[in-house]
Amino acid sequence: MALVESTSLLGAAQDDVAAGIDQLFDRLLAVPADPRAPLYEAMRHAAIAGGKRLRPLLVRAAGDLFHVDRTTTLRVGAAVEAMHVYSLIHDDLPCMDDDDMRRGKPTVHKAFDDATAVLAGDSLHALAFEWLCDPATHADPFVRSELCCELARAAGPAGMAGGQMMDLAAETSDFDLPTVTRLQQLKTGALIAFSVEAGAILARIPVEGRRPLRGYARDIGLAFQIADDIMDIEGDEELAGKALHKDEAAGKATFVTLMGIERAREQARLLVDQAIAHLAGFGEEAALLRAIARYVVERDH
Ligand code: IPE
Ligand code: IPE
Ligand code: MG
Ligand code: MG
Ligand code: MG
Repeated sequence: MALVESTSLLGAAQDDVAAGIDQLFDRLLAVPADPRAPLYEAMRHAAIAGGKRLRPLLVRAAGDLFHVDRTTTLRVGAAVEAMHVYSLIHDDLPCMDDDDMRRGKPTVHKAFDDATAVLAGDSLHALAFEWLCDPATHADPFVRSELCCELARAAGPAGMAGGQMMDLAAETSDFDLPTVTRLQQLKTGALIAFSVEAGAILARIPVEGRRPLRGYARDIGLAFQIADDIMDIEGDEELAGKALHKDEAAGKATFVTLMGIERAREQARLLVDQAIAHLAGFGEEAALLRAIARYVVERDH
């Protein structure tokens, strides 16, 4: 597929998913007329109108391989995005990265307060599972249960939260490349891998049939994090919508500090080629997944 064609395929899908996610969050996070209103306002502030929506886009793209209904992939996309947004709210808190800006807006604890930010994160974490458990997500209870188990694994101590713990330790320890790779696979890779795998779970593809998708997800997850590390050094804060140059200031071991920027860039490119190679058994139906793999390293925010 020509580059222009693949870029417009990606742009159209990204716009469509972003609009769908905003509409769904607007409905699912309607503000109640009672004292919980600020909690909902805080969730809406963080979740609506912002971010690249990469994870819901991956659920859509992987679901498309197996002709999964788009309303279904959107609901699962909203669940994984809610989990991601919760991780960002807590990541920005004063006790973690202490950041003031996220997605071009004040962070939740700045716009509200620390306690509301903690509770908004807790609530989005719980809502992600509530939405997955709802029969509106999938008629088959085994599918819903597998989605919940896999998301729990991806978000917990063997996934995102465990990676965040290692990330805190990276400021004071001399981590080597295998350790940083593991850190990033947990911190960022696990939710990305869930997003891809969810497409196959929804289509009831058995575990053996998911191997190429798992390989693809592992490679783009690492490439995505290398791009995030490079952006922390070379990126534009206005475009990124968040503070940059934080890793170096914190003395944190990243792919870039360990490999140097040029080798890191080359490594990210190789990972993208490898991710695309995993999809060799698919045809045009994998065009969006291929376009996402390229976008992960070419993005400017
Ligand atoms: C930022 O994730 C945090 C990391 C996992 C590196 P994204 O770069 O996907 O953030 P949004 O969703 O576009 O804001
Ligand atoms: C945060 O990583 C990743 C999660 C929230 C799991 P970072 O701290 O590097 O993300 P940014 O740079 O603040 O977006
Ligand atoms: Mg952090
Ligand atoms: Mg951070
Ligand atoms: Mg970062």
